[in-house]
Amino acid sequence: MKKKWWQDTVVYQIYARSFLDTNGDGIGDLPGIIKKLDYIKNLGVNVIWLSPINRSPMKDNGYDISDYYEVDPVFGTNKDLAELISGAHERGLKVLMDLVVNHVSVNHRWFQEMIKDPCGPYRDYFYVRETADGKEPNNFRSYFGGSVWEKIGESNSFYFHAFGKDQPDLNWENPKVRQDIFDMMIYWQEQGIDGFRIDAIGNIKKSETILSSCTMPADAEDGMRAIHDYVINQPGIDKFLGEMRDKVFMRFDSMTVAEINVPEKDLEAYIGENGYFSMVFDFSYADIDTNGITRPCDFASWDLKDLKRCIFHSQKNYQKYGWAAPYLENHDQPRSINKYLKDGEINYYSTTMLGVLYFFLNGTPYIYQGQEIGMSNYPFADIKEFTDVDTITKYQKAKELGDPEEKILDFLRRRSRDNARTPMQWSKELYAGFSESHPWLAVNPNYKEVNVEDEEAAERSVLHFYRSMISLRRTSEYKDTIVYGMFEGVDTEYEEDFVYRRSDDKREVLVVINYSPEQRPWCVESNDYKILLNNYDEIREQIQPYQAVVFGKNYVSDQND
Ligand code: GLC
Ligand code: CA
Repeated sequence: MKKKWWQDTVVYQIYARSFLDTNGDGIGDLPGIIKKLDYIKNLGVNVIWLSPINRSPMKDNGYDISDYYEVDPVFGTNKDLAELISGAHERGLKVLMDLVVNHVSVNHRWFQEMIKDPCGPYRDYFYVRETADGKEPNNFRSYFGGSVWEKIGESNSFYFHAFGKDQPDLNWENPKVRQDIFDMMIYWQEQGIDGFRIDAIGNIKKSETILSSCTMPADAEDGMRAIHDYVINQPGIDKFLGEMRDKVFMRFDSMTVAEINVPEKDLEAYIGENGYFSMVFDFSYADIDTNGITRPCDFASWDLKDLKRCIFHSQKNYQKYGWAAPYLENHDQPRSINKYLKDGEINYYSTTMLGVLYFFLNGTPYIYQGQEIGMSNYPFADIKEFTDVDTITKYQKAKELGDPEEKILDFLRRRSRDNARTPMQWSKELYAGFSESHPWLAVNPNYKEVNVEDEEAAERSVLHFYRSMISLRRTSEYKDTIVYGMFEGVDTEYEEDFVYRRSDDKREVLVVINYSPEQRPWCVESNDYKILLNNYDEIREQIQPYQAVVFGKNYVSDQND
C-alpha cells in the first residue's frame, strides 16, 4: 500500500459537551476546546475528532442534526468553529468532523417539510410507508429499542428510524438526498475540515425486507426482531459509498474513519487501496461484553482468550487489506478500565497496561477524552441519574420484559454511554474545573484523585505514560516500524501473556504484557532487546502484575556495532 498522510496519526476524540465549559451554562463549548488546544498539542497527537457540534435538539446529544451548516448555539458560533480549525492547524493538528448522514433530526427542515406536505417533494427524503390497518408495517426493533416505525400524526403513515424515534433515516436511494449531503461535505472541507468520522454509515442502504410489510420470526420476548442483518452493509451500498468517495474524499484527500463493522470479504472494498474510507472502526473487541445479545440489559461472557483472539484476528485482517483504527473507548462505550479489568484491580499498572495493549497495534490509535488520565465509570445508583436516550430506552424495554431493577441498573452502571460522557476532569476545583456551574451531567466523584492538573504535577501518572506512548509512536527512531511495520501476534502458553511484534527490515518492536495480578515467569527471551517503554521502573526476574513492556531491536545499528 502507498503511504498516506493519514497513516502517521494519533487521534484524540472530543465530546464537546463534556470537555470544557467557558460561559458557565454547564455545557462544554467550542471556546473551551480552543482554550485547550495547547493541552491537546502537548499530548503529542496530531488529529482531533470532534463529535457533532451542529445545530440539534440534542435528543441524542448532537447525533440528531437539524442544520448541517450551523454550529449549535450551545457550543458557540460558526466563527468559533473557524477559529478552532485555524488554531488547530497552526499547531499542526488536523480536524475531523463527525458526519451524521444516515439520519437527521425530526427538527431538520427536510423532515418538517415532509410532515407539512406528506405527498410533496420531501416525502422521498425519508422512508415513509402507509398501512391499511394503522399498525406498524413490520416488527423490526430499532437499535435503541422499540419499533423502527413511528406514526406520523393521526395518519396511517409511518417513517423509518434505525436509532431513536427523533432520528428519521434519510432515503439514500434518492439522488437529491445524496447530492445535498455531498454538497454539505464539500462545504465543510472548503471551510478547512480535514476529513470525517462517519457515523452509522453502514446503515444507509436498507434491504427490501425491512421496508416491507412482513412479520418476521421474533428473536426475543418482545415479539420483535433485530435489524442488524437487514440494514448494515446491504448489497447496493457500494454505489452510495463509491459516489461519496469520488465526489468528496478523492477531491480533498480526506482522512475518513467510518463507524461500520465490515465482514472480511468486503474489507478490500472498504479500506483497500481504492477503498471507500481510510479506515473503519471494528467493534469486535469493543463490544466483546455485549456482542450477539438481543435482550436489552444482558451481558455476553468473555475471557482473555477471546479478547486476544479478537484483537489478533482483526489485526491480521485489517493489515491484509488496509488500515486499522484501534481504540479502547469512545462516546458510546463505558470507560475501558471498567470493561477490561476486574473491580478492585484498577490501578496505575493495569490502566497503563491496557494503553500499551492497543497502542502499538497496526493502524491509527484513537484516544477518547479522559482516557489519557484514567477516567472511570460513574457510580450511578438510580435510573434518574442517566440522560442518554439509549440507556433510558434500554431501561424501559428491560422493565417491560420483567428484569429486576437491580439487574438492569447493574448493566447500565457498567454499560451506559453516560459513563464516557461525564465532564472531563481538569483539576481538584469545584466541578473538576470543567465549569463554574452545575454541569449537565454529574462529575465523577473521583475527580480529586483523577484529574489533569495533579497528573501533570505527579512524577508518575497515567497522563505522563500516555505522552510517552504517543511520543514513542510518533517521534522515536522506532516510529516507522510502529506505524508501518508488520503485525504478528505471538503465541504463548498462557492466556495472561499478551505478546505481539511489529517489524520491518530495519527494526523490531516487541510488546510484552502480563494481563494478570500475579508475578509470573517471562514468556519470551528479551536479553538482546532495548527497553523502549515500561510501566514499571525496572525489569525483574519475573514479570510483575500488569506489567507492560515495549522492547525494541535495531538491526541497522546492530550491524554498525
Ligand atoms: C453512532 C454514534 C452514536 C449515535 C448513533 C446514532 O453509533 O456513535 O452516539 O447514538 O450513531 O447517530
Ligand atoms: Ca458552555
